[in-house]
Amino acid sequence: MRSKNKEELISQILFWKKKRQALILAHNYQIPEIQDLADFVGDSLELSQKAAQTESKLIIFCGVHFMAETASILSPDKKVLIPDLEAGCSLASMIDAEMLRQWKKNYPKAVVVSYVNTSAEVKAESDYCCTSTNAVQVVNSIPVNRQILFVPDMFLGDYVAKVTGRKNMIIYPGECHVHAKVKPADINKKMSQYPKAEFLIHPECGCVSSCMHFAANGDIPNVKTHILSTGGMMKYTKKSKSNEFVIATETGILHRLKKENPKKSFIPVRDDLVCRFMKMITLPKLLNSLKNLEYEVKVPKKIADRARIPIERMLEISN
Ligand code: 13P
Ligand code: SF4
Repeated sequence: MRSKNKEELISQILFWKKKRQALILAHNYQIPEIQDLADFVGDSLELSQKAAQTESKLIIFCGVHFMAETASILSPDKKVLIPDLEAGCSLASMIDAEMLRQWKKNYPKAVVVSYVNTSAEVKAESDYCCTSTNAVQVVNSIPVNRQILFVPDMFLGDYVAKVTGRKNMIIYPGECHVHAKVKPADINKKMSQYPKAEFLIHPECGCVSSCMHFAANGDIPNVKTHILSTGGMMKYTKKSKSNEFVIATETGILHRLKKENPKKSFIPVRDDLVCRFMKMITLPKLLNSLKNLEYEVKVPKKIADRARIPIERMLEISN
């Protein structure tokens, strides 16, 4: 995009944002221009908390569909818009409500913990919701003798089972097409290239179990490896004394990491960790959203009322 066009677009977006009195929320994986225009940039948990607290009557959600749905469920009296309805999530589409209902039949006494990366219909079939920030906390809040069905991310589920020591977690075999690509070999390669760096790994990554295993065996230094949500990565890099970090998550987060820590250096574990859904939100689409009030994400009341229960349980546990 030519810089004059870009400047013009940005000034129109600011004009319409003011006129509409809209709140722009953006996920940490959004393109830099969108992050820079947002009122608030954060991870899934932080964005749902903001959506629940805001006074604004109009929320423009720059993220993926399930995130906008969560905002709409928490604020049914507000208008929630997503600039592109096609911005989905490969992980969320791995399980639908009917599949979950069938799965639950095999475990009638189990409670269902669903990752926030699920549709509203799946949440409506769940007992607890969780994000990568609070999954361990949520599981720990459930009596130890209750069996848990964890959907839909197997790497996050496996990580939570290991950290909590739960033996009664049945984990759905889903994965995110971006994070599943990160293999132990990618971590080993970067460890030899950047021996002084700290390693920040999102729990959706395909290497999480092996990294925990290597760290426990002393094959990789435990103190240098941290499994964190995107919001956790933001907080950790600010307080850490290290100057070099290898980042194992979607590369969109590098913009914010660099912006908020200009003296530190951040190396992506792989250059191809790009979520095409997150990149669907662009400046022209944001402008269209503000101008034409498109595209509304509204969860039918019957589903929203049921889906709100596991989300609010999670928010209570996280507060
Ligand atoms: P966070 O909640 O850590 O931001 O993760 C969201 C997500 O979609 C990761 O792929
Ligand atoms: Fe979904 Fe993966 Fe994209 Fe996150 S990175 S929004 S889990 S597809």
